[in-house]
Amino acid sequence: MSTAKAQLYLDTNRSIAEISPLVFGGFAEHMGRCIYGGIYDPASPHADARGLRRDVLGALRELNFRIIRYPGGNFLSGYNWLDGIGPREKRPVRRDLAWRSLETNQFGTDEFMQFCQEAGAKPMLAANLGTGTIQSAADLVEYCNGRPGSYYSDLRVANGHAEPYGVEYWCLGNEMDGPWQIGHLDMDEYGRKAREAAKLMRLQDPSVKLILCGSSNTFMPTYPEWDRVGLETCWEAVDYQSMHYYAGNRNNDTASYLAQALQFESHIDTLAATLRYVKAKRRSKHDVYLSWDEWNVWYKAQEMDGRWTQAPHLIEEVYNLEDALVVAQWLNVFLRKADVLKIACLAQIVNIIAPLLTTSEGLLKQSTFYPFMLMSKFAHGQSLSVATKAPPVATAQFGDVPALDVSASYDPAGGETAVFVVNRSQIEAISTEITWQSEAPRQVQAVYQVAGTHPKAANSFESPNVVVARQLAIPPLDGKKLTLELPPLSFTVISAC
Ligand code: AHR
Repeated sequence: MSTAKAQLYLDTNRSIAEISPLVFGGFAEHMGRCIYGGIYDPASPHADARGLRRDVLGALRELNFRIIRYPGGNFLSGYNWLDGIGPREKRPVRRDLAWRSLETNQFGTDEFMQFCQEAGAKPMLAANLGTGTIQSAADLVEYCNGRPGSYYSDLRVANGHAEPYGVEYWCLGNEMDGPWQIGHLDMDEYGRKAREAAKLMRLQDPSVKLILCGSSNTFMPTYPEWDRVGLETCWEAVDYQSMHYYAGNRNNDTASYLAQALQFESHIDTLAATLRYVKAKRRSKHDVYLSWDEWNVWYKAQEMDGRWTQAPHLIEEVYNLEDALVVAQWLNVFLRKADVLKIACLAQIVNIIAPLLTTSEGLLKQSTFYPFMLMSKFAHGQSLSVATKAPPVATAQFGDVPALDVSASYDPAGGETAVFVVNRSQIEAISTEITWQSEAPRQVQAVYQVAGTHPKAANSFESPNVVVARQLAIPPLDGKKLTLELPPLSFTVISAC
């Protein structure tokens, strides 16, 4: 193994923007075993009196999700929220047409609110704009946020929740551009329906923040025209534009896969340009930001047919080291694009393409748990623009790319700097010199690393500690410089203050 060299230059004055804590969000859908058997599992020995899994909640708190999107996903577009409230024994069992599963409705809006409180996350609810009407969307806002004294607010009170929940963040449907979506609309139809839903929802509660459905992914034939049309129709009525994307190493081309940050950045750049264009065209002073409210690696597990059973095992992706390094890069991109990206939700949080897998008795932290946990903990304050000099890595998809993918944060409150570095080379260790061009830190507080020698290495219930975050010995600071040897296939976090 040879050792190459790289230099990173940090300057705490070179801020991109404040990092929105909401980029450390998650997504929980009524799909497979995310809700039933994941979050809510009364039969498990780990369940509390309400049926919530204590072990799952503990691990979710480690990930420190600031916001959780619910209840879907494709499920949303056929969901009647009234089925999921009130006495449990009276709730109907329905056919979920999106995942061909049986939905018992034993977990609904009120249970989700309790769960968010336990997890320490803000709720991000979604209004069904597939089979749902603009009226049902407004009624749900009333149910959640209305003061007692009107029908749906009083229904909430009758269900045992006297205080309004004050839900701020609301999605206007899910992936409405997709022909697979229940109640799919074309771009003009969706724009008008979303604008009218937004109007009614704001009449119920003027403080809500609304998220318009952007394109489902960059491969859609209507991308990014769908985004432009929706934004032009709804600009003043909404606050965020959603983006969704799932990455994968479908051709087993690890070099290209480990350069996916370039794809993620270009996706944001295209939509950021669309936002600027529409704002200019409308001569508007209003701003709309991006909400990447479904993102993750997903390409191996493809079982999506529930065969009309309850809580079937669907898309329970097993994650490996290279997937964890892609997740780390995605989070790096969120920091580098902190000026326009304000919300992001890892899809999903338990069992369904998730960092956590459960059995009734057990819980497994997958490889992707660790980069998310580290960045969610250490990335706060301002995102810094890091000048990076790194040797190239050749890729079939993107040509030569720098071996290091880097982001950094600086929190003026505590004077803490954190640097996040992926070494995407599969063969080269890189001796990396970090220079603080502004004031030198007093000390390096901690260095954590997720690394391994094989890109396909993965955790399992039998061997849960194959890909984990390990704390490293703290290397000496040499004035304003710190030198670290970064192994190939690694993600390293350096925290200094
Ligand atoms: O997260 C799984 C599914 O992926 C969601 O239901 C849908 O919105 C997306 O296509």
